[in-house]
Amino acid sequence: MESTRRTFIKKSAITSTGIGLVSIIPSHVWAAKTAPSDKINVALIGCHSMGFGDLQNHLGYSEVNCVALCDVDDTTLNKRAAEVRDKFNQTPKLYKDFRKMLEQKDIDAVIIGTPDHWHCLMMVYCLEAGKDVYVEKPMGNSIEECNIMVRAAKKHNQIVQVGQQQRSGFLFNKAMELIKTGKIGNLRKVNIWANFEYGVGPEIVPDSPVPEGVDYDMWLGPAPKRPFNANRFHGSWRHFWDYGGGLASDWGVHLVDMGLWAKDIVNAPDKVLTYGDNTFPEKRARETFDTMSICYPKNDFVINYDLTAGLQHGPWDMPYGIAFIGDHATMVTDRNKLTAYPEFDNKSKKLKAEEYKFTEGKESHSEHARNFLDCIKSRNTPVCTPEIGRAAALHVHIANIAARVGEPVLLWDDAKNKFTNSEAANQLITPVYRKPWSLPKY
Ligand SMILES: NC(=O)c1ccc[n+]([C@@H]2O[C@H](COP(=O)([O-])OP(=O)(O)OC[C@H]3O[C@@H](n4cnc5c(N)ncnc54)[C@H](O)[C@@H]3O)[C@@H](O)[C@H]2O)c1
Repeated sequence: MESTRRTFIKKSAITSTGIGLVSIIPSHVWAAKTAPSDKINVALIGCHSMGFGDLQNHLGYSEVNCVALCDVDDTTLNKRAAEVRDKFNQTPKLYKDFRKMLEQKDIDAVIIGTPDHWHCLMMVYCLEAGKDVYVEKPMGNSIEECNIMVRAAKKHNQIVQVGQQQRSGFLFNKAMELIKTGKIGNLRKVNIWANFEYGVGPEIVPDSPVPEGVDYDMWLGPAPKRPFNANRFHGSWRHFWDYGGGLASDWGVHLVDMGLWAKDIVNAPDKVLTYGDNTFPEKRARETFDTMSICYPKNDFVINYDLTAGLQHGPWDMPYGIAFIGDHATMVTDRNKLTAYPEFDNKSKKLKAEEYKFTEGKESHSEHARNFLDCIKSRNTPVCTPEIGRAAALHVHIANIAARVGEPVLLWDDAKNKFTNSEAANQLITPVYRKPWSLPKY
């Protein structure tokens, strides 16, 4: 049933871009509002923050309908439903259980904007229901969940876009072009940093009753049962291993992904060197590390990732950023700007590379949504595949595992799906799901 709807969208997309058609129909007609048959019906699971941002970015395109919203928190669900009605004049059906939502036949694609511990299960349920999926980053909250997600996406052959939106922005595409066309010489090193105050977590508060209208058991899902605490709920769940990976993974997947993209690496790392500690003076509500220095040695270059939570300043006067160090120039970038600093050649008395400065960068969520929508129609592969999502996630998960087990060097054998030098690390590859949930079998 669902594939029939998608096939129809795909056929109409091909027809409407057919050369003959465009040339005989006046532009005011073919550029007009999207025909109802070309509409893409989108649903959102997890409406509080980023998921709703993603939805709005999708709704910014005229062919998108929002037909369903799902959240375990009534307050969030009702607030977001009102916003969709007021801003976009649409009335999606509302759900607290995503499994019920997936029975709704007219949904083409689902955006997953829940905490990380839900991504794998939800993505698999969506794929099995024949839906295309936009899943937020990090793709999964563990190595094995990422493996399953790659296999499930392959088997179901649906369109999957992972929410590493930097892949869709002009700025990082330009950075990759400059690197890959040799403009900074041979890439020798990628230095990444992320220093954010939020990474130390909020001040400690006691456990409290579950807020009214929240299905807390469904929020926890496969994670262990425990009393409600506001610090482990909306937003700040990311500092606890059961649901997220702290600053290391929150920003790490975005930034390390750029280091991997520079050499088109879509594999797990073989070797990760990690120092993780808590050096922030106050005790906060957090299990994840506030201080980490991570090194990923690659064949012909090295990626370093350094994070200090509780601060908002960093190298090059930027709280986060990436320095791509080539032998002709160092190119420093964040999401807004890119500057290439050439080396000076003492023999020829000339710069070894051209100076380059670009300051007009911006967030690229909207472009990333556009790419997903285009791929839903064309059935082409989106720019951030599950394989790319897995590679970025494994790089940060392995560093977190190293810090958690206190093993400064971890050796990963991807073919055998195990660490070859730490049994303690092997225990953290696969999460234990709380019943009745079970890890999908793929
Ligand atoms: N791409 C980016 O730049 C970016 C930025 C921020 C966050 N994120 C990612 O987006 C995701 C969400 O992060 P956030 O900060 O918006 O979290 P959040 O806590 O603000 O929102 C999560 C929402 O999911 C809901 N939820 C939890 N379990 C659910 C379930 N079983 N069914 C339905 N709803 C459920 C919660 O009630 C909440 O409304 C995370 O994976 C995060 O890493 C990505």
